[in-house]
Amino acid sequence: MRGERITSATLAAMKRRGERIACLTCYDAAFARLLEAAGVEVLLVGDSLGMVLQGQPTTVPVKLEHMVYHTACVSRAAERALLIADMPFLSYATEDRALAAAERLMGEGGATMVKLEGGAELADTVRRLTRFGAPVCGHLGLLPQSVHQLGGYRYQGKDAAGAARIEADALALQEAGASLLVLECVPAALAEQLSARLDIPVIGIGAGNRCDGQVLVLHDMLGLLPGRAPRFSRDFMAAGGGVADALARYVAEVKAGGFPGPDETRF
Ligand code: KIV
Repeated sequence: MRGERITSATLAAMKRRGERIACLTCYDAAFARLLEAAGVEVLLVGDSLGMVLQGQPTTVPVKLEHMVYHTACVSRAAERALLIADMPFLSYATEDRALAAAERLMGEGGATMVKLEGGAELADTVRRLTRFGAPVCGHLGLLPQSVHQLGGYRYQGKDAAGAARIEADALALQEAGASLLVLECVPAALAEQLSARLDIPVIGIGAGNRCDGQVLVLHDMLGLLPGRAPRFSRDFMAAGGGVADALARYVAEVKAGGFPGPDETRF
């Protein structure tokens, strides 16, 4: 993948043009090269690495040092993609902790954006991070770091009150300076409405195909975790060929609006 480095301005321009954004999780240098070669615009060093690489039951045990290590592995190989690093559980519980975590993820890890889970309660933190030069991606809907509070991995925003809360949170994050939003496991109609309402791009996962872009966990879409992939995911290896073919199929399907399809969309 050649050309200028992808920034939040690039993604905003893609949204204005109606060009869908392809994002995947990525945890090492080998896959960073393969994903960029396939045309993936956004690499997310997700704290899902706790589950897919470390064998943890949730993302809660993931530490900042793990995120810094894997972000640095990816950033050494990534030449063009926007590189988002997840801020792990409680690493942004105070504004000072958030600044310290961003300093490591961007300074040592080489991330070009950080992601945190939560809404209006994080508006001041987002304001502080962006004021000091750290671009922020929000994450709403199903918040995996809150799984113990939620009581499981469940769809969010299913009733009017829940949907209104997510909408208010999304507007608060945008107003505070977030430049991107991940929306996980919400009804497709809500995701479509928010994508139209917000100026910043919305990247969906389990949120239907009317978002500005899509993200999946790499190991799910490569079929590496048999029997464990969520229903909204697709095994892009199933059609045959190698990893590069599967990644190219994913990018093509996202760009064409063919992924997720009706069977991968719950609402
Ligand atoms: O950690 C992760 O992989 C994520 C995606 C599920 C969006 O946050």
